[in-house]
Order: sequence, then structure tokens, then C-alpha cells
Amino acid sequence: MNFNIAVIKGDGIGPEIVDQAIKALDAVGAAYGHAFKYEELLAGGAAIDETGKALPAHTVDVCKRADAVLLGAVGGWKWDDLPGNERPETALLGLRKALGLFANIRPALLFEELAGACPLRPELTEGGIDLVVVRELTGGIYFGERGVKQTAMGEAAYDVEIYSEGEVKRIGAVAFDMARKRGKKLTSVDKANVLDSSRLWRRVMTSLAADYPDVELSHLYVDNAAMQLIKNPRQFDVIVTSNMFGDILSDEASMITGSLGMLPSASLSASGVGMYEPSHGSVPKMAGLDRANPMATVLSAAMLLRHSLKLDAEANAVEDAVKAVLAEGYRTPDLHTEGKTKVGTSEVGDLIAARVKRG
Ligand code: IPM
Ligand code: MG
Repeated sequence: MNFNIAVIKGDGIGPEIVDQAIKALDAVGAAYGHAFKYEELLAGGAAIDETGKALPAHTVDVCKRADAVLLGAVGGWKWDDLPGNERPETALLGLRKALGLFANIRPALLFEELAGACPLRPELTEGGIDLVVVRELTGGIYFGERGVKQTAMGEAAYDVEIYSEGEVKRIGAVAFDMARKRGKKLTSVDKANVLDSSRLWRRVMTSLAADYPDVELSHLYVDNAAMQLIKNPRQFDVIVTSNMFGDILSDEASMITGSLGMLPSASLSASGVGMYEPSHGSVPKMAGLDRANPMATVLSAAMLLRHSLKLDAEANAVEDAVKAVLAEGYRTPDLHTEGKTKVGTSEVGDLIAARVKRG
């Protein structure tokens, strides 16, 4: 089959990690008889430099028509002094909103081969960690009313956390469906002891539970959830939470998998295009050094194959290739320990692609 993939390499390590994901996709193409056509698009800092705008309209148009979007990362020091509404990050938020990507899926899986890289004591992770953070991505404080005003204490700035019943229901349904297909446990994370928006969140999640009698729903306050993730990560199956809490907890969850460089993500809309990117950022200090771990991006490409293109066997092949490369002892610098073979970004991409082709 033929597929059109919109590719946004972005800034920092973005281009080099996306190149490795493309190698994996091309290997899938060769092994399974698909043709992937890539259209490279600008967004973020690179787009600011080239066009003056972080998110050119052309980029949004092409993404909307694509079968899926593959993205590296955006942002860097170079653009840090721009006003908030012109920063590279606005491209990411703009794309999420324009494409209706309300559901962000971030699986945190501790690969057996990387057990040693997990900063938690071995007895806390024995038997493995396999949890998914489902983060609401187009609402809440990221997109609420914001502004600046004068007060007796000087200038004040505000960002409003707001959620409608419909928004909570929509993300809740994604999370319940996912829990149903996995361990049948859903933890909804909020701050309902303080925030009205969280009380609404909790009420809607609780009423949704009636449609999912086979899924066990529990609620945690976000401070407690942050603590429980470190204390006993194996208690979690699916976590559903708001945009900002999900941003924070997914970084925390990624760390227990050994490296931020291992966590992929999928951002899904109701029926349209999906966008796939590593959960980490653009790491400007590592750009161009061939040191970045591309596995989160390669694993994001696997999610692209599974969710947007419905190519399950192909997705499994990419994930198995990543596992095989780890099992054979290859490690990028972030994961390297004594006795393992240290490899760069590009070489690890070649190794993964070769194993995909081999099958
Ligand atoms: C993420 C990132 C983004 C976010 C930034 C870069 C805007 O941290 O995808 O987790 O906060 O959503
Ligand atoms: Mg983040």
C-alpha cells in the first residue's frame, strides 16, 4: 500500500532522530511491500528562521491531508527570547489544536534489557513496568484564557484552567477503552480537593465508569500520583489526566523506564490524522553530535504504523527490532553501561532498520 507521511523534523536533535525513524519505516516498506512518501514540512524554530512564523499555514494544510504526521522536536535557546506567542513551542500547540489531537498516548514500558537503567530499586520494578499515560491535549490551562493585568502587587499574569464536560468525556472514553484492552485498571488523576475544574473532571469520569463495568476506576490527587509513581509504579495500568498534569507525570513515568529517550507518543483526533513524536524535547546541546537516542522516535513510528495505518504486524516488527538491538547490547550514550557496546544515533538507526528487514 501507499502512504503519505508528513514529516516535521524540527529543531535540535529533531532531524537526526527523525532520520532514524524514517530508516525503520523504509525497512518496513521493503520487507512488507509498502511505499511511504514523505513530505518534509517546517514548524518551530526552523520555520521561524525560514518564514518568520513558527507554524506556517502550508504545514497545517499538508498535515491535515496526510495519512499521519511524524515529528521530531521543536525549540531551542536561539528562540528563547521571543515573546510567548511567537516561540517555537506555539507550533506544537497550534498543530495539536488545528488537527484536533485531543488524546495524547504515552506508554511507559520498562524493557527487560534496560532494567539496570531504571533509577528505582530492583524490587520495585521486578516483573516489569507497563503503564500508559493518557493526557488530554487540546484543553485545560494550555488553551484557557490568559492575560496580564495591573494589581496593587504590580503586574500580574494569569492562565485559566478550564474543562467542559464534553472534553472530559471524550478523553475519558479513550482511556476507558484502552484500559479495557489492557489490564482493566484506570486511574484518573486530578486535584479535586482544591480545584473546581478537577471536581467536574472527577464527576464526569465517575459517571463514565457506568459504561465500563469491567474496568476498575480509581481517583488520585496529582501530588499523591507523583509520589505513587515512584513508590509503587507497578500499581498502574492506564492513567488519565489533564493537559498540564499529564505533561508532568509523563516525564516522571518516562524516567522510570530508564531514559527519557525511550518514551514514544501518539496524539490522536476523533477521526482525522494522528501525530507521532518522542515525548522528549529538542535537547539543543546534543544537536548534531550523533549522541541522541532515537529509540523514542522509532517507537513513535511504530505507534504510527499501528494507530494511523492499521499495520499491526509491521508495528510489532519495529518494536521487536528495537528490543533485539537492546538485547544484543547496543546502547546510545544515555543508556550506556560497562560491558555494552556504545553506538551513535545513526548507527543505532541502521541496526534497527537491518533487523526490521531481516524480520
Ligand atoms: C510535551 C512538551 C510540550 C508540552 C512543550 C514543548 C510545549 O513538554 O509534549 O510534553 O508541554 O506539551
Ligand atoms: Mg512535556
